[in-house]
Amino acid sequence: MPDSVLDMNASGFPCVGVLGVGQLAEHLVEGWCGASVRPRLLLSPRSRARAEALAKQFSLEIAPDNQTLVDRSDVVILALPPERTVEVASGLRFEKRHVVICVAAGLKLEPVANAALPAKTVRAMPVTSASVRESATVLYPGDGAAEETLRLIGSVHVFDDEHTFEVATVTAVYYGWVFRLMAEIAGWLKSRGVDEKEAKKLVAQTTRGVCAMCMEGGKDMATEDRVIGRPGTYTGLGLDLLQRMDAFSAWSETLDAVLKASRRGKVD
Ligand SMILES: NC(=O)c1ccc[n+]([C@@H]2O[C@H](COP(=O)([O-])OP(=O)(O)OC[C@H]3O[C@@H](n4cnc5c(N)ncnc54)[C@H](OP(=O)(O)O)[C@@H]3O)[C@@H](O)[C@H]2O)c1
Repeated sequence: MPDSVLDMNASGFPCVGVLGVGQLAEHLVEGWCGASVRPRLLLSPRSRARAEALAKQFSLEIAPDNQTLVDRSDVVILALPPERTVEVASGLRFEKRHVVICVAAGLKLEPVANAALPAKTVRAMPVTSASVRESATVLYPGDGAAEETLRLIGSVHVFDDEHTFEVATVTAVYYGWVFRLMAEIAGWLKSRGVDEKEAKKLVAQTTRGVCAMCMEGGKDMATEDRVIGRPGTYTGLGLDLLQRMDAFSAWSETLDAVLKASRRGKVD
């Protein structure tokens, strides 16, 4: 048995079936289509306008129906609304050779895995930066084919227990909040006279600089704020003010609330 989807297709690339062509799928497809190793992709037929636009843009095929998509794929991404995922998977025939990657937020592995038997099912949480191959994707449990497929659109972080995986998925909501934080700073710059385009570029590049220092520059994010923000500095003054306003603990409390909701599988 090959333990890798790429091995399975020595003459080409794995076929990834994208079941559910919505907002996330669009970003995943864009990322895969620009990857150095481009997997073969097959789109499900529903959401016709979006599927057709993607098919046209990237010369992709749309399957005539969901079962044909499964039959012709090695890896199947379930990018469906969470509340529809088990029902849709239950209505399809999978084989042992399939690897099913379920990206539904707040949906436990067991019901999806049972619905897709005898395939192997894993949970993953990619984000929209997959389109530029920068998604930090958490995965549970590890699987060679799933890891190879997801690594084409960013980094893959494997967890071997579902409980910790669910904690890690909260970074996917943090991802969304970072846009808001950056917009707040850029909006402030604009309101004080900086050109809007320049303000956004400045904030994005500053944020990229922080990421680069943590990932390549060897800086520890836990201590670097106070290395830069020493007492008597303007950075230090700002950190003290934010702390006094509980700005940082508000983030931890919000992360707790999101984790609790996602474990319930319900937003409200
Ligand atoms: N968006 C994100 O950034 C993000 C990030 C991580 C995880 N996720 C997860 O990814 C999944 C998709 O999210 P999304 O934001 O992309 O939602 P979305 O835009 O609503 O996409 C879901 C797609 O599935 C389609 N669909 C429904 N039933 C189907 C069926 N029987 N066969 C084929 N397609 C069907 C929907 O079509 P209709 O519109 O015609 O019903 C829709 O196009 C969710 O489970 C979500 O939790 C999303």
